[in-house]
Amino acid sequence: MNIIITGASSGIGYATALQLSENPANYVLAISRSEDKLQELKKQSDSLYRHDNLLPLALDIEGNITGNDFGLLQKQIDKLGEIHVLINNAGALLNKPFLELTDEDWLQMYQTNVLGAVHLIKKVLPFMGKTQRGHIVNIGSMGGYQGSSKFRGLAAYSASKAALANLTECLAEELAEQNIAVNCLALGAVQTEMLHKAFPTYQAPVSSQEMAQYIAFFATHGQLFQNGKIVPLSLSTP
Ligand SMILES: NC(=O)c1ccc[n+]([C@@H]2O[C@H](COP(=O)([O-])OP(=O)(O)OC[C@H]3O[C@@H](n4cnc5c(N)ncnc54)[C@H](OP(=O)(O)O)[C@@H]3O)[C@@H](O)[C@H]2O)c1
Repeated sequence: MNIIITGASSGIGYATALQLSENPANYVLAISRSEDKLQELKKQSDSLYRHDNLLPLALDIEGNITGNDFGLLQKQIDKLGEIHVLINNAGALLNKPFLELTDEDWLQMYQTNVLGAVHLIKKVLPFMGKTQRGHIVNIGSMGGYQGSSKFRGLAAYSASKAALANLTECLAEELAEQNIAVNCLALGAVQTEMLHKAFPTYQAPVSSQEMAQYIAFFATHGQLFQNGKIVPLSLSTP
């Protein structure tokens, strides 16, 4: 499968890209802004599995969709001809009390967590669902899951993840006749730098490698069983 994953330079995205590259039948386009960390990921994948099937691509997903960086992504997509899976995993978190949040803070959260995913989806859609059922997987959060426990300081982050979950449902309907499924995984706590920012003293019961195994399987198989679903994936609160 030809797979694009964003946020591949650290945490859950890094571990998921690595896991996906274990299968020689996959070709993984790994995106984030940090080129050096993506090169590390490629090195690790090549030395562990020796498939040479992971391509790092430095890109700010919030950037201008008609600009040069997105042009490089377009070239890779054109070369592949079909994209089978898109995992919108890149995300940012802000831990700040509501009254201290500025308009810039709100915009920043929505730009990364919602508009970034929209950009990737727009680029990939014309190349999905041609010969096999495509799958768009949006990585959401339990914070953005309706009815879940909420936490102080995470209003902008959680609201942006709720928007991503809602976008998932809307798109599943809009793309229903295009052989493409769209699902959202609402993650609970996974031990990463981002979790440390939100809950500095908390130790999550799940590692990024463990979560990566689930995400890799879901992204490559879930489209055959689910569409328009927001799947809560949580062992703990948070
Ligand atoms: N860890 C948890 O407990 C938890 C819980 C619920 C949901 N999640 C979600 O899971 C996803 C991964 O989180 P994580 O914990 O692995 O976080 P992380 O280690 O902070 O990773 C975030 C990734 O997003 C990338 N990124 C951020 N802004 C970007 C941009 N503008 N353009 C391209 N890439 C960008 C970062 O790379 P660069 O800085 O190199 O660009 C990094 O690779 C996020 O969407 C997060 O909201 C995590």
